[in-house]
Amino acid sequence: MERELTRGKASRGRTAVIVGAQWGDEGKGKIVDVLTHTFSVVARYAGGHNAGHTVIINGKKFILQLVPGGVLRPECTSVIGNGVVIDPVAFLREVGSLRAAGIRVGGNLFVSDRAQVILPYHRMMELGSENAPGRVKIGTTSRGIGPSYEDKMGRRGLRVADLLDTKLLRTHIENACREKNMIAHALFNSDPLDADKMFQEYADAAEKLRPFVRDTAVFLNRALAEGKSIVFEGAQGTMLDIDHGTYPFVTSSSATSGGAATGTGVPPTSIDTVIGITKAYCTRVGGGPFPSELLNEQGEHLRKRGNEFGAVTGRPRRTGWLDLPLLKYSAMINGISWLVVTKLDVLDHLKEIPVCVGYKVDGKKTDEVPAQASGYDKIECVYRNLQGWAAPTQTIRTEDGLPKPARDYLAFIEKETGARVAMISTGPDREQTILIDDFVKDLGLKSQ
Ligand code: GDP
Ligand code: IMO
Ligand code: MG
Repeated sequence: MERELTRGKASRGRTAVIVGAQWGDEGKGKIVDVLTHTFSVVARYAGGHNAGHTVIINGKKFILQLVPGGVLRPECTSVIGNGVVIDPVAFLREVGSLRAAGIRVGGNLFVSDRAQVILPYHRMMELGSENAPGRVKIGTTSRGIGPSYEDKMGRRGLRVADLLDTKLLRTHIENACREKNMIAHALFNSDPLDADKMFQEYADAAEKLRPFVRDTAVFLNRALAEGKSIVFEGAQGTMLDIDHGTYPFVTSSSATSGGAATGTGVPPTSIDTVIGITKAYCTRVGGGPFPSELLNEQGEHLRKRGNEFGAVTGRPRRTGWLDLPLLKYSAMINGISWLVVTKLDVLDHLKEIPVCVGYKVDGKKTDEVPAQASGYDKIECVYRNLQGWAAPTQTIRTEDGLPKPARDYLAFIEKETGARVAMISTGPDREQTILIDDFVKDLGLKSQ
């Protein structure tokens, strides 16, 4: 098999990782959708149905949680990699609603046999822990993501391949339920879950999931060897990464670009480009540090103009100005060479746009991103006011067509981060996208 997988090395397909450069919700779903015009395979590598990726095609809205954006292009294949945690019931529900919306799902979507399974006791543990006195409340999405990754790392998780093994599934659920019920009762006074009922529901879901299951690492490496191109669809964002984010106010997976290799089984040496997605300002949902947060009317205004409410949970997102020290950090951690700036149109009304260009701690300038969440308390943002354009951008389709102050705003981001702007998004629809020529050439993209 080794020879088979490396055979076509000289003509291996191109690869690019799409990674959130902030705290998630940067518009990754929309940008992946634009790229699937050219890329043949889309692979998710981390997270689970905590993600909510919005794609709008000719006014029709799709919100994807687990299913990669490739499913919306009939010629694309989508893969849910081993780094993802999958709730089979949520997955089947999502597939059902996509089919109901007229999307073909079947033979074009594969799930890794090594992905971890989320079970109801993961949600029970998360609920207990989020509400327990004395514990740090993260403000999670309540999907059981954290406890499922805990079980993975604790080497007591259930993988998709095990889910399909009915005998093993029964034993696993019986043992895990006994253990989790005892812990949850002792710590959080939770009501016990019924193992028998759980087994019936998940054995049934397993049979429906079976046709999707593959060794996706082999599938992806074979696709590359055959010259097919792959885009890795990141979920969450850099500042939510378990290692590099604002710990402990993070998710439990490797959301950064490195996760694309471990989360799919495609080697790091086969990753060509990392494309970071950033809003023209900043948002975060849930608790934790946010140095450039606006807690005033301006923040409320950004939230309204940007429709900043969670795609899945509906929670209002916190808003703030663009934070360049964090964006530089994100560019470093991910190796971002191309940057996509989304939601530029949300700033269309402003005559002046403050941007955080540095931090001050105890009156001294620093660029350092703190290791401790408490370290952010001391940070004071240093702002520079850039000229706004105070003109609509939603219908503009070329870089040259943008008002000069908007081009200057983008050039400033490029200069500060060292990454080049690849695309500019000026509205939620697939069509409201400006592609930069050098990026189109570099990635060998087809014209849209
Ligand atoms: P993701 O999780 O990174 O895929 O992002 P979400 O879909 O959760 O959030 C991004 C939101 O912004 C969605 O509602 C998108 O439809 C919307 N959006 C994406 N790009 C733009 C843009 O350029 N302008 C505006 N106004 N909305 C956008
Ligand atoms: P996409 O892919 C924004 C946040 C939650 C919470 C923290 C931990 O749409 O960008 P979890 O349920 O993962 O244990 O919650 O992470 N969070 C997200 N915020 N976008 C996301 O995904 C997120 N996924 C998780 O709000 O603060
Ligand atoms: Mg989202």
